[in-house]
Amino acid sequence: MKFFIETYGCQMNVHDSERMAGLMEQAGYECAPDAADADVVVINTCSVRERAEDKLYTRLGEIRQMGLERGRAPIVAVGGCVAQQEAGALLKRSNTIDVIFGTQSIKQLPALVGQALADADNAPTRIDVNAYEDVSFPLGIARRLDPLKAYVTIIEGCNEFCSFCVVPYTRGHERMRPKRDIVNEVIEAAAGGHKEVQLLGQIVNHYQAPDDPSCDFAALLEAVHEVPGVERIRFASPHPRHVPIGLIHAVRDLPKVCKHFHLPAQSGSTRVLDAMRRRYTRESYVELVAQLRDMVPDITLTTDIIVGFPGETEADFEETLSLTETVRYENMFSFKYSPRPNTLALQRYPDDVSEADKTRRIVALQARQKEIQLELHLAAVGSQVEVLVDSVSRRRTGEVSGRTMGNTVVSFSGPPEWLGRTMTVQVRLAGPYSLTGDATTAVWVPPHEETRLDTSGREA
Ligand code: SAH
Ligand code: SF4
Ligand code: F3S
Repeated sequence: MKFFIETYGCQMNVHDSERMAGLMEQAGYECAPDAADADVVVINTCSVRERAEDKLYTRLGEIRQMGLERGRAPIVAVGGCVAQQEAGALLKRSNTIDVIFGTQSIKQLPALVGQALADADNAPTRIDVNAYEDVSFPLGIARRLDPLKAYVTIIEGCNEFCSFCVVPYTRGHERMRPKRDIVNEVIEAAAGGHKEVQLLGQIVNHYQAPDDPSCDFAALLEAVHEVPGVERIRFASPHPRHVPIGLIHAVRDLPKVCKHFHLPAQSGSTRVLDAMRRRYTRESYVELVAQLRDMVPDITLTTDIIVGFPGETEADFEETLSLTETVRYENMFSFKYSPRPNTLALQRYPDDVSEADKTRRIVALQARQKEIQLELHLAAVGSQVEVLVDSVSRRRTGEVSGRTMGNTVVSFSGPPEWLGRTMTVQVRLAGPYSLTGDATTAVWVPPHEETRLDTSGREA
């Protein structure tokens, strides 16, 4: 029996899919190369914006059609955030689904699929969307997709209830994983060759170890930093309201910790931030940015912005633009506000910014952001950056790319054998989304130039 998993949403979902794949393999299923070859199709859904949710229904229609064409419908299991929150609505809208399992029921997936397969002709939909307290997950099961980067969940759920956000309803209340489990998972990932670890949680800086009262997020970074074989540590996302000085010290002083904060601002207007229930002001956010830049001069800052939140005026939006000018982010993810079920904003505020205004604002914001990124990248031309090589170009032979500590993509000539190495690259060209340069830690001549091949890059 073969399975195929399709994933929408954030890194947390990507990692949950890695866990599902491992559980399915453990139960004897084999991974299919695509949905058309699969006996079981698992869709791991996201409901953060309406568009994300709509994709599910489009996909269900396509899978149904595919089943009709080949005369044999696969078992369809829908998991993730939409399933957790809207099992009832899903059942009403689609009769293609055989299994619905929530974000807290991943471990039940093989059993639920097994039941559905055993009774495929007239199977009622198997549903498991219970809210479990359990944050444990057996070590060594997750089938990690990336050979270099390992996702490690440290906190599940969120108690923040920002007024626009569905996550507290889809992921449940905030639960910390024991430090012992996290460190063991990092040891296991490093032993498997993963050089970069990314710690995941909705608000990672809330971390407080349930098994060690003295271990907060900064101390967890220290513990992960001790693990041999780990070269880089990233985390996503910290919340701007909870950045103690000890955390800034840890980021500054621990060499493996990437000097990068993804610090979602959401808006530059204190009035809008208040309606969003973000519980910080534009001023306190800008102060935090100044403190971070002061203490960690080479820090990279990136952000998330929502445009068109209910009641956002042109003047509020101008404040978001001016925040962008002030902070000069290296990268930004921007979204049009999308009303979500159960949220406070849906109940309290009409979605009163027109679609045309949302579009105009997001286009203006992205255009300005693109210019800023280009300016920042141009300033890096001529400098040397340290890059962990993480991909081989599919379009250009003899080209690899990697990321700096600040997460900027840098492309340069090099052989596939450089994957996983840390190289020094002299930056030659800049674009808004990436840099191009030449490796300086190794001399490598592209094969078509037919000379000596020297791959003596710094062995990590
Ligand atoms: N836990 C993270 C955010 C997770 S959701 C944090 O608090 O920083 C990722 C991003 O999606 C958010 O930062 C926000 O910018 C965006 N987002 C969330 N809900 C949204 C909505 N209803 N409409 C538009 N964008 C939304
Ligand atoms: Fe959503 Fe806010 Fe929690 Fe982030 S902190 S997941 S935006 S409720
Ligand atoms: Fe989406 Fe759920 Fe992540 S709503 S963004 S998949 S936590």
